[in-house]
Amino acid sequence: MDLFRLGPDDLRSLRANAPVHQHVGTGLWLVSRYEDVRMILADPKRFHPDNALTAVTAIPRPVLRVLARAGFSLPPTLANNGTETHADLRRLVAAFLTPARVQAMRPRIAELARERLARLTGPVADLHPALARDLPAVVLMEVMGIDDVDIPKLKAWSTASLELFWGDPSTERQHELARPAAEFHRWLTHRISTARGDDLFGALRNVPLRDAAGLCYFLLIAGQETTTQLLCAVFDAVLRHDDLWSRLGEPGMAELVVEEVLRRDPPVNTWRRIAAEPVTISGVDVPAGAQLLLMLAGAGSDPEVFPDPERLCPARPNARKHLAFGFGRHFCLGAGLARLEAEVVLRETFERFPNLRLASAEPPPMLDLLSFRAPLSVRVELRDQDRPAGGAGPRDLADRVAGPAGGR
Ligand code: HEM
Repeated sequence: MDLFRLGPDDLRSLRANAPVHQHVGTGLWLVSRYEDVRMILADPKRFHPDNALTAVTAIPRPVLRVLARAGFSLPPTLANNGTETHADLRRLVAAFLTPARVQAMRPRIAELARERLARLTGPVADLHPALARDLPAVVLMEVMGIDDVDIPKLKAWSTASLELFWGDPSTERQHELARPAAEFHRWLTHRISTARGDDLFGALRNVPLRDAAGLCYFLLIAGQETTTQLLCAVFDAVLRHDDLWSRLGEPGMAELVVEEVLRRDPPVNTWRRIAAEPVTISGVDVPAGAQLLLMLAGAGSDPEVFPDPERLCPARPNARKHLAFGFGRHFCLGAGLARLEAEVVLRETFERFPNLRLASAEPPPMLDLLSFRAPLSVRVELRDQDRPAGGAGPRDLADRVAGPAGGR
């Protein structure tokens, strides 16, 4: 079983036949049923988060030296912190992501989406570079009050970091990836140590520099790469699924659809924990120190909790019960922002292009990392009908296409 490319059939078979299963190649214990995954996330005493950011493919000494020269380290701060310092650091970051601050971004997200949609030209376009790639990074920097980062550079730093820590790179590739990762860490250290204002870096001025840099390294990657992945997953899933695109004009539909994609195709498809003591999970004895791989995608498609799980069903009463943002003490701090971005971008795209279609029925190339899985491209056909014509605004056109609310 290839852990980097687990699909719905693998998850189904794991849940049914081996819900707690030690993977031979990596030694990781795969946990795939909803109730088990939730129980583990909810119990920080017996299950520690210390391995959350550990490189999946061991980093050899010469590559570690490249990182060490930049002072690189990932001490326990947020996602990987089971100690008492977690609560204060979490509070500090949460202050930038209050519901009011997030909601205040709504018009700006819509504006950023519209600017990008206006630049789209047909007949075929890829929504990943055109719409999904940099928008979440721009939004995150604005929310965090940071105005001096070069966005293409941030994307290069963060995609390299994801591959270095969650991918399966060769040693040669690890060398290549370590350089941008180290450069990012060096830049963060410099910015934090010289921070004056009240942006994220300034807010961290009383936190030890090593911890502050480690925290920002994770946050500024997790806070935008995952949303890029979600946007691609949402576009791909909706455009592939029956008539869902044409229903996006119905009130509340974009939010419901985003939730269903998070449930079925979570961009963070797995997350790790360590068993602090011997435990029995679904009848299987797991030793202390076991590295657990929680299959968040397995939980979201568990038929015991979500009937007919492969179907995207916006009316599903318990859709928000999914574990795509984790659960408990480490629940994702950016869930509200990610949801808002996906909802607004999806709706803006529908309003501008109510007749959008995938350019091909072929499955898209995928980002295949241990904990991150999403389409790398969303090639769409921009059709003639999508050019605004006469007096009909996009909203009128949408209403005509979507038909009566709730009709399916
Ligand atoms: C679709 C987008 C996203 C997904 C799927 C996602 C998923 C996750 C998951 C699975 C966790 C681990 C939760 C746990 O251990 O229980 C997490 C933690 C975290 N996420 Fe997200 N995330 C997303 C977007 C964001 C954004 C936009 C931000 C920041 C603006 C963010 C910041 C964080 C932080 C700071 C943590 C660690 C929280 C803690 O340990 O206290 N994430 N996220």
